[in-house]
Amino acid sequence: MEKPLTQHIVPGRKPLNLKEYEKVGGYQSVRKILKEMSPQEVQALVKDANLRGRGGAGFPTGMKWSFVPMGPDAPSPKYLVANADEMEPGTFKDRVLLEGNPHQLIEGMIVASYAIQASISYVFLRWAYKLAAKEITQAIHEAYEAGYLGNNILGSGFNLEMHLHTGVGRYMCGEETALLNALEGKRANPRAKPPFPQVSGLFGKPTIVNNVETLCNLPHIVNNGAEWFKKLGLTEDAGTKLYGVSGRVKTPGCWELPMGITIRELLEEYAGGMQDGYLFRGLLPGGASTDFLVEEHLDLPMDYGSIQAAGSRLGTGTMIIMDDQTCPVGFTLNLQHFFAQESCGFCTPCREGLPWVEKILMAIDKGEGKPEHLLTLDFHTKYLGPGNTFCALAPGAMEPLQSALKYFREDFERHIHEHHCPWSKSKAWQPSI
Ligand SMILES: Cc1cc2nc3c(=O)[nH]c(=O)nc-3n(C[C@H](O)[C@H](O)[C@H](O)COP(=O)(O)O)c2cc1C
Ligand code: SF4
Repeated sequence: MEKPLTQHIVPGRKPLNLKEYEKVGGYQSVRKILKEMSPQEVQALVKDANLRGRGGAGFPTGMKWSFVPMGPDAPSPKYLVANADEMEPGTFKDRVLLEGNPHQLIEGMIVASYAIQASISYVFLRWAYKLAAKEITQAIHEAYEAGYLGNNILGSGFNLEMHLHTGVGRYMCGEETALLNALEGKRANPRAKPPFPQVSGLFGKPTIVNNVETLCNLPHIVNNGAEWFKKLGLTEDAGTKLYGVSGRVKTPGCWELPMGITIRELLEEYAGGMQDGYLFRGLLPGGASTDFLVEEHLDLPMDYGSIQAAGSRLGTGTMIIMDDQTCPVGFTLNLQHFFAQESCGFCTPCREGLPWVEKILMAIDKGEGKPEHLLTLDFHTKYLGPGNTFCALAPGAMEPLQSALKYFREDFERHIHEHHCPWSKSKAWQPSI
């Protein structure tokens, strides 16, 4: 089984330095594109490869790049930003790539920058990723020394600056337009779209924001071709994916596997199944802002189309498992506490609605809920849904809530009718609020 993204990552061992990375073929894709390919050819290759963004929305990468103005009259400078903010609960896949092989990310950023003719690039890094910050700083320094960054890269006439920018720990900064405001030193609100960042992004100039995992795929696509990349996937989605599993499983972790592996294989073969004494109850397939799936979905492939058809989203591909001894109300409350806390407060439905949802869930969890509370929660899932708020944070928050109300409604009703949490005497996890 090919594992292009993680083949040189050994847990617990320092990442490859520049010399070691070059020995295993590192920076070959940069030599290739600068010598043999036009920026438009790189864009076409990535489009043909059917690479979809790994940051959560799955937008086709080549198509996203194609909206950037090109040619001598295009605004300048253009920017490329690697989104390494990774604060989605349950998600720790980019961390593996950042800490494990920082040169692979830098190489991917050079490929992306060349494709859109960006001359300035940033890694926007989650503040808590201290080790990643150290490794990336060192790798950027080595890449400058070797002439892969800076002016006239490898004598090609192409120039690229690269900077590391560390955030201050807000989930909101992962949303690409809020991220751009943060990079400009402003409050991290999202921006109105249009104009899209591809046309008017950082400092009003054309900008591409791509996820770390998306960018790390680029050197391999350039070196091996679009057909090779498409064949890595088991279903119609191309490539491999860094999948993760957390919750009460025997061996939680993160694995690079072919796109389209089933949920059951991930859960049983890689995560080792449920811990002794616990049964599977449900899962969030791609981080906290995706809809719950249940037992009947276990044989679904973990790809964009299959998970969407089942009413959820692949998201970041890192699943959170809920077991039978965890209260679904407490579980949902804990997530809503996070989302309410991370709301940027810019638009009313989210600023007011999320704390209201949290308050109602807290009352239900304590046994103080009323039957009409369920209708108020249903109402919120509709009015904080897509199209009613300024960005996707609130609609994302509603995904686990609406699906919990669908699949675990009887648990909510029991809390209300019995005036207490049926799990409260078990050793189960309780929300940390
Ligand atoms: C609240 C919120 C947080 C987000 N956090 C991240 C993040 O940490 N990393 C990321 O790559 N994308 C995140 N996204 C998605 C980005 O807005 C954007 O779609 C992504 O970086 C694009 O990269 P891709 O096309 O390579 O997937 C977030 C979106 C929202 C609404
Ligand atoms: S939906 Fe929430 S996070 Fe997004 S802009 Fe509105 S208040 Fe801010």
